[in-house]
Amino acid sequence: MVMLFRCTICGEVSLAERAPTHCPFCGAHARWIVDAHAYVEPVVPELTEISRKNLEFTYDLEINAAKIYHCIRKKSGDGLILAMFKAISKVEFEHAELVGKLIGKAPGCEIPFVERLCTEERDKSLRTTEHLESDAIRHYKRFLEEATEARVREVFQALIEVESDHLELVRKNL
Ligand SMILES: [Fe+2]
Ligand SMILES: [Fe+2]
Repeated sequence: MVMLFRCTICGEVSLAERAPTHCPFCGAHARWIVDAHAYVEPVVPELTEISRKNLEFTYDLEINAAKIYHCIRKKSGDGLILAMFKAISKVEFEHAELVGKLIGKAPGCEIPFVERLCTEERDKSLRTTEHLESDAIRHYKRFLEEATEARVREVFQALIEVESDHLELVRKNL
């Protein structure tokens, strides 16, 4: 029987017979996904100055990644690359949205297509992605250490796991 599950990181809902291993929207791992009946809306905490600065940085980083991946998706003639970048561009845009909720920003409805942000070269795209994901993980590990708010710590923990999945995926295809 189909059930309703909810992600405690992005708040999105999914219908499935069993809890998804990863949130279909933000990529959060199973441990962050609950039966929708048990879902409690996270409270936006009062942010420390350092967390606000780190979340602003994260928001920009996620939007930038979403735009680059969207560009790669649009320009790619390779079906697998297209599928991969369709998936990860949407996940990064969802990250911008969930981080935005903590700092009072919203990324809009659609990822803009910025033609100059990428090339059509497969290997170059994957290398760029490897760099962006490694860079994000490095930053988020530091931001996690610097955060004292429980909600902010949860968000960075989940994001580190998701970006690590992306890095693994990209490296497998290099
Ligand atoms: Fe999620
Ligand atoms: Fe992300």
